[in-house]
Amino acid sequence: MSDTHNHFIKTPRQLITVVVLSFLVPVVIIVLLVKYVTGTKLEMVGTAAMTPEAIAERLRPIGTVAFAEAGGARALQSGEAVYKLACSACHDTGAANSPKIGDNAAWSARLKQGYDTLVKHAVEGFKGMPPKGGNADLDPLEVARAVVYMANRSGGNLKEPEAPAAKK
Ligand code: HEC
Repeated sequence: MSDTHNHFIKTPRQLITVVVLSFLVPVVIIVLLVKYVTGTKLEMVGTAAMTPEAIAERLRPIGTVAFAEAGGARALQSGEAVYKLACSACHDTGAANSPKIGDNAAWSARLKQGYDTLVKHAVEGFKGMPPKGGNADLDPLEVARAVVYMANRSGGNLKEPEAPAAKK
């Protein structure tokens, strides 16, 4: 009985080719798959969510305490922050007959006294105005910044006081 089937593999050479391919093709597919999977993982590592800073930020305990520096100086707050914290209670509403922020008419005569007097009154108190707005912890510079913040929203044009040079 002669072999009449139409064999796919007819020569030894074709046999070798098929054997080699059947080995190589899965290997190539596996390599490509591995590359695909690890490739996407590496992309994640590069995103902003995985930077050391972002990780430190996530691990940071809630609420940090700003300790006074060795020299006794702490980071001074901005005029806006101080105003909102210590001054707005009265000066937002005009409570206790305080000049309201943004009320240029109420401020114009006061502004004419000049920066030094305004700051002195704010720091030391003046009639119904309690010293430092009642916040003894405030640095005079913070009060001065708040005065500038308030005055410049009430028709004034005062210059923000310079921060003292950092002591070393
Ligand atoms: C408890 C209410 C109150 C708080 C809080 C307060 N003030 Fe006043 N402030 C007043 C009153 C009342 C006056 C008006 C005093 C007067 O002339 O009779 C005034 C006036 C002033 C004046 C004008 C002073 C002048 O010479 O005309 C400045 C500047 C000022 N306050 C700044 C501040 C700053 C800065 C803060 C926050 C650190 C603050 N105040 C917090 C009630 C307050």
